[in-house]
Amino acid sequence: MTPFSYKNGILCAENVPLPLIAETAETPFYCYSSSALEKNASEFADAVKKEGLDALICFAVKSNANPAVLRTFAAAGIGADIVSGGELELALAAGIPPEKIVFSGVGKTEKELEAALDAGIFQLNAESAEELETLNEIAIKKGKKAPVALRINPDVDAHTHAKISTGKKENKFGISWEIARPLYAKATKMKGISPVGIDVHIGSQLTETAPFEEAFGKVADMLHTLREDGINISRIDVGGGLGVVYRDDDAPPSFKEYAAAVKKYFGDAGCRIIFEPGRRLSAEAGILVSRVVRVKKTPAKTFLVVDAGMNDLVRPAMYDAYHAVAPVVENGGEKTLYDVVGPVCESSDVFAKNRLMQTMRAGDLVAFKAAGAYGSSMSSTYNMRPLAAEIMVKGDRFAVVRKRQSISDVTRACSLAPWQEEG
Ligand code: LLP
Repeated sequence: MTPFSYKNGILCAENVPLPLIAETAETPFYCYSSSALEKNASEFADAVKKEGLDALICFAVKSNANPAVLRTFAAAGIGADIVSGGELELALAAGIPPEKIVFSGVGKTEKELEAALDAGIFQLNAESAEELETLNEIAIKKGKKAPVALRINPDVDAHTHAKISTGKKENKFGISWEIARPLYAKATKMKGISPVGIDVHIGSQLTETAPFEEAFGKVADMLHTLREDGINISRIDVGGGLGVVYRDDDAPPSFKEYAAAVKKYFGDAGCRIIFEPGRRLSAEAGILVSRVVRVKKTPAKTFLVVDAGMNDLVRPAMYDAYHAVAPVVENGGEKTLYDVVGPVCESSDVFAKNRLMQTMRAGDLVAFKAAGAYGSSMSSTYNMRPLAAEIMVKGDRFAVVRKRQSISDVTRACSLAPWQEEG
């Protein structure tokens, strides 16, 4: 099943023509296919099961935090990889049980660590010796033992965009290789800590298995060393990072290839394997639909000015990311070379450069593909542009799962200083 495909020249989400949604939802809006989300989750789960891995799959909530998306994954038995107290609240509210939640991130505050311990989540991934100390103190005060994996920084090049690489030693993430072994030894003596796992995550949108394998090899060595030290490691968290197809010629590893790589290193480790996929479960299940405001011609360029901006989908501006742009209604006519741009007052508010697509007119709809990950979740209200609506489709039904904000929603928390209101 392709979640978004043309039927009689009209782009549909599952069985719903997008123009029909655009009649009720103001553009721009995100649109998710629940069948695609479910399919991604079940294919991932099947692939790791086939390799005989005892797996816990935790969706990286940061890639898409819409409650309806989370509920879809919860119903499919998927857990959550969270990075904040907010994501913890959301994951629990969506029905993801605490035993399926892992908490990553370099800057967990005391309040967040407390909330995680109170909720009784499955695992905390500690990113520094300092964080481990703090967690230990908090756990002791609560009379608890925190189940912890140390996130190791394997100093591996993920061969992805520099801004989404996390596994090199100069990155802020993880605990450096050299101090990990003594820190595990120390952790075993901490009354509030139970060092049960090793965690690694080297970056996002990886399109080859080699960097994963390099990192897994190092983790496997560490596992061996720690067991020799008498430390009982029972969990390996392999992080996320599996890439998706943005351009037609992108060829990321299949679920099967990825699961096989994990099995190669940890198949007989006797460990529970935790996966933290974000993008691979959500990206291709979502699109951003936008309307052409006008076609602006200059001596140098033809700009397709659309009503979505970098505030709605920041990936092209932030990571030079490529998103396919498709007309929602095919007209079979001639083609034009466009720069597709948003209305935001920034030169970087450009979605696509020199894109050859059918000639478009003001009022036409376009869809930015593979926008279900790090699209809505990274959006902002910059230029006082309210957050876009989110729509979920299932078969021939669709529903608004986040209303488009009004300006008063955006400004609700604002007030004047008392002295400004005097007199
Ligand atoms: N686990 C950890 C510890 C992470 O830091 C991340 C992503 C994931 C899992 C999920 O990675 P995924 O499977 O989605 O690749 N905003 C960027 C991506 C940032 C990724 C941050 N960490 C983008 O739009 O490309």
